[in-house]
Amino acid sequence: MSEDEKFAWLSGPMAIPLGNTRKPEGAVGSAAFYPAIPRLGLPALQQADASLGVSNLGNVRPGDHATGLPSSLLLGATFNPELAFASGSVVGVEARSKGFNVQLAGGANLIRDPRGGRNFEYIAEDPLLTGVLAGQSVAGIQAQQVVSTVKHFAVNAQETGRVMASSNLSEAALRESDLLAFQIAIETGAPGAVMPGYNLVNGEYACENAFLLNQVLKQEWGYPGWVMSDWGATHSTVKAALAGLDVQSGANLDDADYFGNLLRQAVRDATVPQARIDDMVTRIVRSLIAVGVLDKPVASPVPIDYSQHKLVAQRQAEEGVVLLRNAGGQLPLAQGLRRLLVIGAHADHGVLCGGGSSAVTPIGSLSLPGTDIMGMQVDKIYQPSSIVQALREESGAQQVDFLDGTDPALAVAHARIADAVILCAQEWRSEALDAHGLGLPDEQDALIERVAAANANTIVVLQTGGPVLMPWLEKVAAVLAAWYPGSGGGPAIAGVLFGRVNPSGRLPVTFPASESQLPRPEQTDPRTTTSNPGTPRIGEILPIDYDIEGADVGYRWYAREKFTPLFPFGFGLSYTDFRVSDASVVKGPGFTVTAQVENTGAVAGACTVQVYVGKTGTDGFAKRLAGFKKVFLKPGERAQAEILLEPRILARFDDGAFKIGAGDYQVWVANHAQDEALEVGLQVGEALSL
Ligand code: BGC
Repeated sequence: MSEDEKFAWLSGPMAIPLGNTRKPEGAVGSAAFYPAIPRLGLPALQQADASLGVSNLGNVRPGDHATGLPSSLLLGATFNPELAFASGSVVGVEARSKGFNVQLAGGANLIRDPRGGRNFEYIAEDPLLTGVLAGQSVAGIQAQQVVSTVKHFAVNAQETGRVMASSNLSEAALRESDLLAFQIAIETGAPGAVMPGYNLVNGEYACENAFLLNQVLKQEWGYPGWVMSDWGATHSTVKAALAGLDVQSGANLDDADYFGNLLRQAVRDATVPQARIDDMVTRIVRSLIAVGVLDKPVASPVPIDYSQHKLVAQRQAEEGVVLLRNAGGQLPLAQGLRRLLVIGAHADHGVLCGGGSSAVTPIGSLSLPGTDIMGMQVDKIYQPSSIVQALREESGAQQVDFLDGTDPALAVAHARIADAVILCAQEWRSEALDAHGLGLPDEQDALIERVAAANANTIVVLQTGGPVLMPWLEKVAAVLAAWYPGSGGGPAIAGVLFGRVNPSGRLPVTFPASESQLPRPEQTDPRTTTSNPGTPRIGEILPIDYDIEGADVGYRWYAREKFTPLFPFGFGLSYTDFRVSDASVVKGPGFTVTAQVENTGAVAGACTVQVYVGKTGTDGFAKRLAGFKKVFLKPGERAQAEILLEPRILARFDDGAFKIGAGDYQVWVANHAQDEALEVGLQVGEALSL
């Protein structure tokens, strides 16, 4: 590559019209474009968002649509690596068919705050579940010979002040939590690129953080791919280049063209060696080769089988909807009810989807005003999968009525004469926008209370970007957490309500009983800081102390503090019963837990066996998910589950390495993070260095 060719790949603007930026010639139109180098057989890099389908930011490709996969949190709730791969494949096929060869997917941040605005783009509060599923999703995308990123490296846990926030966390805790999630995701999926986020980590911007990029990622983990900044997240030339950043993305949002002329100048001044430039482009070309982009160049447009993809989205949703309450076994509802009433959340039109760069707009989406990100209007999108229509098809009810919920008195009047009420509650979250508090917005709690008082058979279907409080919980018959369920969301929800689908989702995040249980109950006022790149900075760097919980994120924190949450991590009900018994730990190479699982109920279903490990003593820890397995069983069927534990979960990071300490461990084979009914011991005779 000539120097001009190299530099053309090291810095680029967004490939959509924004302010003074135009869509470059040859660009499909998306987050980024880097020109082809035909004489070397190198294709243009066409980069699109994100994990939940191919987004069409700012409608840059007028009328282009895509399949909307369920939110990553829903994927987390499936506890099913195969579904992660399958949904990644859908994204990969559609990306390729639209002319993209790099997908900005693989959200692998840990959910450290249940109010985080982008939690719907992340999988879980747990590093093992996050790492395995994010890695499988990346592998699914890359199996289509489209490069995927993992992002946002690392500890990008809140949106308020995301370009000003410094995630402060001591090294051992970082290694045992957020970095471990990325490490497992990278080992599992071998992503072609890594995207550091907007935030700072321990006082250094992630995109110029030599510890994160050079030391951990590239040297210790031997990561061979390229590191691209988040859009408008680069802050320097020499510092960033020497810290391990390879590409400045979304350069039009930065204060300067750091990896353009300034980087050329730095090479001339010998403050950045030529070898570093060569390394940057070598990493890009290497990943293109490794993922097969050069073997099978994208040729677009190719017709897409949207119907089939919608079915993949539906199957995923069917495994990720979590049944949280089913008082008196009200669900599944009986076929052929006289009158079914559906209220709220535009359920006659579709299902809610999270906002921002990852939002996907399938054909026929309903777009309502949302928020403003970097001068772009970000809509609140309802993907066209009507819950009402699906209920009409699935329920056999004589009458299915819909009310939008804006008139509580009308809702109550109709609820009184209905056989059952499906109350759809919603909470929209978006990139750049954390939830304020954990309550449902827009007085939906009051509506639920009133409707539940009018009809004892009120079922709440939650579509949220994460946990919410449920002051009305005891008063309703049943609750489903449907997250943002994607293009097949309507039939998935209807299928669970009427029993075609036996719910098998398990919570990938703890639902707190109150905000006072959180490590940081207070929230920063978004007006006092800056949450978007490319906009004037308000205030100072915002330090966030993650050492409060350290590596004890989510359920680990609840175990440590002995808090009882509203619903624990891993929890979810089924229409059948399972008996898990005869658990033991087999030491072999590594540690394997075996247990018998039996479906003792009347319908087929899936049991997610979860193995948690705890240890007392100075090198101890409260409780950690060390392995899991989803087992599908017919009524009366038994199976042996074998679960190989992830050794780093049993270890502490100490003096540069993971070490499993000698001593006694507690091992729980459990239904959720607070279930300690089935315990087996594990003794480790001699300390092990990993
Ligand atoms: C987001 C990234 C995204 C990029 C490109 C940024 O605002 O943080 O996740 O990939 O935009 O659209």
